[in-house]
Amino acid sequence: MADKAKLIVDKDFAIGEIDDRLYGSFIEHLGRAVYGGIYEPGHPEADEHGFRTDVLQLVQELKVPIVRYPGGNFVSGYNWEDSVGPKEDRKRRLELAWRVIETNAFGFNEFVDWAKKAKTDVMMAVNLGTRGTDEARNIVEYSNHPGGAYWSDLRRKHGYEQPHNIKVWCLGNEMDGPWQIGHKNAVEYGRAALEAAKVMKWVDPTIELVACGSSHRNMPTFGDWEATVLDHTYDHVEYLSLHQYYGNHENDTPTFLARSVEMDDFIGSVIATCDYVKAKKRSKKKMLLSFDEWNVWYHSNAADRAMEPWQEAPPQLEDIYNHEDALLVGCMLISMLKHADRVKIGCLAQLVNVIAPIMTSGGGGAWRQTIFYPFLHASLYGRGKALVPLATSPKYDTKQITDVPYVETIAVHNEAQGEVTVFAVNRHLEAELPFEIDLRSFGSCSVLEHIVLQHDDLKAVNTEANPDNVKPHKGGNAAVDGTTVHASLAKASWNVIRLKV
Ligand code: AHR
Repeated sequence: MADKAKLIVDKDFAIGEIDDRLYGSFIEHLGRAVYGGIYEPGHPEADEHGFRTDVLQLVQELKVPIVRYPGGNFVSGYNWEDSVGPKEDRKRRLELAWRVIETNAFGFNEFVDWAKKAKTDVMMAVNLGTRGTDEARNIVEYSNHPGGAYWSDLRRKHGYEQPHNIKVWCLGNEMDGPWQIGHKNAVEYGRAALEAAKVMKWVDPTIELVACGSSHRNMPTFGDWEATVLDHTYDHVEYLSLHQYYGNHENDTPTFLARSVEMDDFIGSVIATCDYVKAKKRSKKKMLLSFDEWNVWYHSNAADRAMEPWQEAPPQLEDIYNHEDALLVGCMLISMLKHADRVKIGCLAQLVNVIAPIMTSGGGGAWRQTIFYPFLHASLYGRGKALVPLATSPKYDTKQITDVPYVETIAVHNEAQGEVTVFAVNRHLEAELPFEIDLRSFGSCSVLEHIVLQHDDLKAVNTEANPDNVKPHKGGNAAVDGTTVHASLAKASWNVIRLKV
């Protein structure tokens, strides 16, 4: 056995209250996320709306509190009016972001209906690519205004007497990216976002808005983009977005698993930039963060490059996740929890079929990918207060990232339930590591369960034929000795140690 790792937690030293919306997700009109994912009329498990109930069950199991919609890159060419009203009148469109045909058979109102069934809220994005202020005010009226004017009355005519009351709205998507339809520089976007924000809040002052941050940390404009966009929008938005995907392109697992250390740094840099603008403006307002796209994404890249354009709902971005991907997803969740005071919304991108924890086959079953499990555990047990992790661990270096702790960990205190849950990833690929949790301020405690996700093969996956190849067991060995918990963390494992305190 190698050196031990240790975590000290104290109930009085909290990072902050965890917002339930940290465990949000994302459905884009992309690939088979909607068509063949959440919506498949004619499927044996489809309800009267064509919603797959087997998928709804898995979404409910995850207790996803909010789902971002309809994009992603898709939103930058979206005419939402095409997607409402009688289905027979809906237009087929060339969808330029993903080079497919969008039939609009499923649209805005259907998504609101689906979200109700999934017991989740909608986080809606407006198109600031091909469109702008006018469309932004109209869709907020259609969605949230009670009636008595053209767009809100149109919603009523479409069968929705009551407003949808969508509270969180994204001002476009990844507008810093040259791949984006209607890509803008920071000043152009800052101005467009400000003007859209003003009219959206004039229609409904109760909404909250998310301005686009950089598409990822390595964008050449990262930093300047955030500062300029916030210069324009600071007083009019509540959140700034972050997006980040990682891949193990070089099959270098130690580096891949260390990527969440970069993610910590990324979040810290965005907070610093927000606070710099706050200082410049002598503002009292604290900008919050919406990490509204994050995941592992790379397995499907080659297949997507070979895809024929202009198909209807082709299988795009269908990453089949393996065990090591689940470990990084666990580490990324811990990174966000470490910043629970500022990161208030998180959206695992995405939810079904497209880089997703849930997979389906057309006419067939629905199953859980490996990454389903860390997300499930965090969503179920990671609610309450995130505690400051005074953690020590043996470390390793890679060529790109140094000082990587083998054990990544954090504790969450759920006072109402009288529980502390410790999440821990052992990044060591060869050795089990002893782990000690010092719960000094909590007094006596007992172990409720020690859940472990482990597999001898880092590349092991779940498939429709073998859906339980990678799945957690409850056989971890965490045990209490006074106010200390001792456990050994299996090599390459995700651990959830639930304690009654
Ligand atoms: O989630 C897939 C894509 O990744 C989204 O459409 C886009 O916003 C990001 O680049």
